Amino acid sequence: MQIIKTVNDLRQVIKEWRRAGETIAFVPTMGNLHAGHLLLAKQAKLHADRVVVSIFVNPTQFGVGEDFDSYPRTEQADQDKLVSVGVDAVFLPAVETIYTPGACTAVTVSEVSDLYCGAFRPGHFSGVATVVCKLFNIVQPDSAFFGLKDFQQLTVIKLMVRDLNIPVEIMAVDTVREPTGLAMSSRNGYLTREEKGIAPVLYQILCEARDAILKGSQSIAVIEQSSLDALKRVGFKPDYFVVCRCVDLKKANAEDTDLVILVAARLGKTRLIDNVYFSKESCS
Ligand code: PAF
Repeated sequence: MQIIKTVNDLRQVIKEWRRAGETIAFVPTMGNLHAGHLLLAKQAKLHADRVVVSIFVNPTQFGVGEDFDSYPRTEQADQDKLVSVGVDAVFLPAVETIYTPGACTAVTVSEVSDLYCGAFRPGHFSGVATVVCKLFNIVQPDSAFFGLKDFQQLTVIKLMVRDLNIPVEIMAVDTVREPTGLAMSSRNGYLTREEKGIAPVLYQILCEARDAILKGSQSIAVIEQSSLDALKRVGFKPDYFVVCRCVDLKKANAEDTDLVILVAARLGKTRLIDNVYFSKESCS
């Protein structure tokens, strides 16, 4: 696996692959890799001749007082994991490589970026869209792989690619869960032993809400409120628990069929997000 730190070096490698007629898949990450990231890389490997993974803890997607400084940086362990799944190149840029001094351009995907996580983390999705757009321009892949766990992020990126005519196929990959149901996340490492016992309840409550919607005996508003109450009872401080339409993440009404339930909740110092998506039609 090639370890590349500069844009020029990466472009040189990619040029040679392109000259040989090879296709390229890209997996952007912030490192501290877990089985969810490795599934993205494995899917990318099945899809293209070459796989590039970036590891870059992107400062512009962290708000003031968030965990940018303490975000786990585990470079050597990450590289060993990427070798084990056959990644061809890892791109490890410095902050100054991505954000050259004097840069004055950012990407904002309006409306959807202000909802849910965007309302609790102002500027977060603009930071994500900007860095992903820059990485797409640097790597120029045929396809890029993102986890469905970050459902709102995936929606933002799909809209950006559509609106800016970026020629990259966006591939969505299933959430990988612990045997307890807890979605894998780089931030799970912040959980204390006791919190690790409580955290899986987040997914249980999502599943119960989905089942209640499919049963159809309660309104969406009642299900949202009872889910928020259930989260609070076990010790979560929820930011939001919303039933939305998959297509644009607007709040769902009784007629919508393709739904996603999005949740973000704090457990001690850790903010967890998760979701379940389903179609009322295929379940009927
Ligand atoms: O999902 C992440 O790890 C990050 O938000 C991403 C897409 C790599 C952008 O920094």
